[in-house]
Amino acid sequence: MNHRTVLAGVLTLTTGLTLAGCSSDSKPELKVVGAFMPQPISDMAAGFLVVRNSGDAADRLTSVTSPLSDNVTIHETKNQTMRMVSSFEVPAGGELDLERGGSHIMFMKLKQRPRQGEKVSLELHFEKAGPIKVDVPVKETTHNPKKQ
Ligand code: CU
Repeated sequence: MNHRTVLAGVLTLTTGLTLAGCSSDSKPELKVVGAFMPQPISDMAAGFLVVRNSGDAADRLTSVTSPLSDNVTIHETKNQTMRMVSSFEVPAGGELDLERGGSHIMFMKLKQRPRQGEKVSLELHFEKAGPIKVDVPVKETTHNPKKQ
């Protein structure tokens, strides 16, 4: 493939996406998969999950609520330092990955410490889509699905 062919392909793709974004009924279609919480060892906990968007519009995760804590925030990790963010993009036809070593949900001042085998209920709130409830299984403290 020469450069011209590549460029033409990119332009076609861009135009297609723009048109899809403009149609009045384009909307995000969200689904949560692979959620887990490592068993907390202090009064803080982290939550990990993937939000898949099979729709034709992007959305944003704006907040998370849970009976486990009144202080739940979303964090990104850069250069091994975590920092709170106000929202995360869930791209159209893509996914938002909250995974170990990266972005995550942070629970502070836990009201109780959930143990492995239990479930923690969460509600994810989005800019466009309605809220999604998830029952998150508590796994062993070192659980990491990517390393199995
Ligand atoms: Cu954090």
